[in-house]
Amino acid sequence: MVLRSHCVARWAIGGLLVALAWSGAVHAELAGDDYQTRAAPLTDAERQQRERQLRAEQERQAAAERAAAERRRRLQEALAAWKAARPPGAQLVEQRCTRCHTADVIQPASRGTVGWLWTVARMRLHGADIDVAQALTVARYLAERGAANRPALDAPPDEATLLSMRRPPPQ
Ligand code: HEC
Repeated sequence: MVLRSHCVARWAIGGLLVALAWSGAVHAELAGDDYQTRAAPLTDAERQQRERQLRAEQERQAAAERAAAERRRRLQEALAAWKAARPPGAQLVEQRCTRCHTADVIQPASRGTVGWLWTVARMRLHGADIDVAQALTVARYLAERGAANRPALDAPPDEATLLSMRRPPPQ
């Protein structure tokens, strides 16, 4: 086979172009500006700094969650303490008289002790779970509240007040 000169020249030029393109591509990949600016690898110091920031953020969040849980717990505790400090009549009204209707149905000013005793007896006929001694406690309590022009049950204090309440000394 005879290689004609212009053929040889074409091959040579072709090969040269391929070689140039290849080395250029490799060069671009290794040191191209694009590569450097788009995703510059982090130095060790930078990576450590980022990890520290992430950890600090996670710790802040965990601390905030702990504080919120602690606040809820203290609120519950203070509310329970406030409820337990009410007179027995109030606790009975809450426990025995609010199953079928709300406490605001009970208007203390409407009657005296005997009247309330009758009402509680009627509630027993409806199915209220309350014994005679408890009924008397409730009747006296409601009559007193009526005389003092107060509702059957006080609304619990708001959260700020509850949180500022001093805990009763341990017994
Ligand atoms: C088992 C359900 C039930 C329970 C528990 C209950 N009630 Fe009632 N209550 C009713 C029903 C039903 C009515 C409406 C009919 C009536 O007035 O008898 C009512 C109505 C009332 C009324 C409005 C009528 C009125 O007489 O002024 C008052 C006050 C009242 N209840 C007080 C009480 C008290 C105090 C207790 C707790 C000792 C209590 N209730 C517990 C069922 C109940």
